[in-house]
Amino acid sequence: MKKTNNIDTKNLVGQEVELFGWVNTIRKMGKIIFIDLRDRSGLVQLVLVPSELSDKAKDLAKEIKPEYVLKVKGQVQERGEKQVNPDLETGRVEILAKEIEILSKSETPPFEIDNEERRAGEELRLKYRYLDLRHERMKNNILLRHEVIRFIRQFFYQRDFVEIETPYLSKSTPEGARDFLVPSRNYPGKFYALPQSPQQYKQLLMVAGFEKYFQIVRCFRDEDQRGDRQAEFTQLDLEMSFVEQEDILQLIEKLMIEMVQELFPEKHLTFSPFKRLTYSEVIEKYGSDRPDLRQNKEDKNELAFVWVTDFPMFEYKEGDQRWGAAHHPFTAINPQDLDKLSDESKMGEIKALQYDLVLNGWEVAGGSIRTHRPEILQRVFELLGHSEDEIKLKFGHLLEAFRYGVPPHGGIAFGLDRLVMVLAGEPNIREVIPFPKTSDNRDPLMGAPSAVDKSQLDELHLQITSNDDNNNK
Ligand code: AMO
Repeated sequence: MKKTNNIDTKNLVGQEVELFGWVNTIRKMGKIIFIDLRDRSGLVQLVLVPSELSDKAKDLAKEIKPEYVLKVKGQVQERGEKQVNPDLETGRVEILAKEIEILSKSETPPFEIDNEERRAGEELRLKYRYLDLRHERMKNNILLRHEVIRFIRQFFYQRDFVEIETPYLSKSTPEGARDFLVPSRNYPGKFYALPQSPQQYKQLLMVAGFEKYFQIVRCFRDEDQRGDRQAEFTQLDLEMSFVEQEDILQLIEKLMIEMVQELFPEKHLTFSPFKRLTYSEVIEKYGSDRPDLRQNKEDKNELAFVWVTDFPMFEYKEGDQRWGAAHHPFTAINPQDLDKLSDESKMGEIKALQYDLVLNGWEVAGGSIRTHRPEILQRVFELLGHSEDEIKLKFGHLLEAFRYGVPPHGGIAFGLDRLVMVLAGEPNIREVIPFPKTSDNRDPLMGAPSAVDKSQLDELHLQITSNDDNNNK
């Protein structure tokens, strides 16, 4: 490929180059046309002077409009001192165009690509996401996400972690949200559930003996959307055997500190080592389990990481009038509180080996040491109100696995979208997800969710009993 990246032209003064990209803006000054050409690397200014252009290029030049895709041959030249544009990385050079080819034309886009102030509404941005992603800010967010993922992978590879994929077509695993279900064609009336997290699989990988696992994985939770929540989101998920809580906290702290040093050198940490507070302390002092402890909330480069530890194991769900697991039932109980398990009236006092990582007031990660003794896990399920049959049906596989030699283990999962959102200084995770859903869970680009053919329903042994009148919006 002969393509020169726009950004590289700044070091190629005097040379002939072949550029490919989109027309960002066009300005005409008399007979001269100035075009800002955009490719992934950035912008560079083209100058179209009739006397320098081939005859064919002269004709084409008149047709060019914003967002056309061009191939341009030309010479890189230095700009006069007065023409230097300090806001552009290539602002000291321009390309004197000689040959132009229009590779594809564009209709007038539904919103201006180059104008951040006049940002379109969410619906329009998501319907034309491929245009929205052409915005400099959006492109940078996606590239930043890529850098974060690349850093994470290297960090864990260097420390002997194994990256292992776990199934998406699976069975319900309790993380406290509703499941997305997938009907089975072969087994009428039966469903797979999309995982709310790989929690049980990663524990089974510890039983299998992998010792150190990580995965960058999609999770699915059918819950109400908020600025920091999507139905489909990405976790950095990890699990380790033969570790204690302290090992995991230290490792994650190292990951975050090294990542900030390498990818965000302009940012500074409020606490290094990270601040640690127990759940009771944060609730008492700040009335929240995810306090924002930045010293100066106006400072966009301040990162206040706080570990919140010693969560209660159980919490009473007023709405459902029953006890639930504060994190999830697989979390280990603080050994000091094990004797309280026999007394139901003490459920509220039992502490868990659970920790959350809070960054500038957002819960970016949560994890725990796990119960590896099957009889304790069984008792936790009982206390959560599951009947003997239910326990067998829902968790029998895990309890069984734990009968075959299970190492002590623990782990944590980051909300990767949330982490990138805070690091990118964005207010909403939709800004760092390439193709997110709207706040009411639709994908306006693909038109999902959508009705399906009756034949598909028949194959899946499904019958629709009520129709959403809005499902065509
Ligand atoms: P938890 O449910 O706390 O733990 O999830 C871990 C982290 O994932 C992020 N998160 C979300 N991000 C975007 N949209 C959502 N709907 C959403 N829900 C959660 C949060 C959260 O801290 N299996 C356990 C982890 C473990 O114990 O190892 C789990 O999933 O940043």
